[in-house]
Amino acid sequence: MPGVLDPEIKRALTERIRFYNELGIYDFYRRENPETQPELREEMTPRNKVAAVVVSEEGLAAVNSKPESGVTDPVTALRLIREDLGDCTRCRLSKQGRKQIVFGVGNPKAELMFIGEAPGADEDQQGEPFVGRAGQLLNNMIKAMGIRREDVYIANIIKCRPPGNRTPERDECETCSPFLMRQIAAIQPKAIVALGAVAAKTLLAINAPMSEFRGRWFDFRGTKLAVTYHPAFLLRDPRQKKETWKDLQMVMKELGMAIPAKGTE
Ligand code: URA
Repeated sequence: MPGVLDPEIKRALTERIRFYNELGIYDFYRRENPETQPELREEMTPRNKVAAVVVSEEGLAAVNSKPESGVTDPVTALRLIREDLGDCTRCRLSKQGRKQIVFGVGNPKAELMFIGEAPGADEDQQGEPFVGRAGQLLNNMIKAMGIRREDVYIANIIKCRPPGNRTPERDECETCSPFLMRQIAAIQPKAIVALGAVAAKTLLAINAPMSEFRGRWFDFRGTKLAVTYHPAFLLRDPRQKKETWKDLQMVMKELGMAIPAKGTE
């Protein structure tokens, strides 16, 4: 039974939640207070440990519902998320030369999702993730797994090209990634492959080197998540393709896919 909120606090909360909703943020978590719980001081709180939706009162919950809430068809859910994103100006990248938003592409019912970092020049031009040289290599990786690009869903942590292809800033990732989270929730893949350290660090909220991310499964909000090298890195250091193939084999095994003998040339 929810407690009764002071009407003034309720109004202020409603307003605040509406503000966040306009930014595309619908999920709220409560971080435990290290002042009152000293044992938490030492511990970095990963996302999967933060708990408890703040809002439980009926009126507030209504404000807090995503446009795709209750929609079970992933095609419709993705369309609603895309509409909610609109011609996004939520961060500085909208004013720094992006041509278009690169939402994501592929099978809305995909069992497997690949998540990269950010669109580059080719992606910005064509409005689709991974269509440049790194994209060609990703296509080969997918083909080596015995499946087609159209079978998987491909997206990035952020949806707009950073100027000069610089690494996305933390606040840009934080502003944009809630939409990716909603895409993942709509698609409900069986497994996610994070391509490169930026994707891994953002999704897992862990600051670690690639060596600690690779070769194991993480839990991402109830979905299995593996990390492998970014295809752009593999273009610079093709020797790591062998290692990448090991990562992909781990994924294939998890998804019950037959493992072809071929690598990721
Ligand atoms: N690199 C990425 O991380 N994403 C793309 O879409 C293209 C290149």
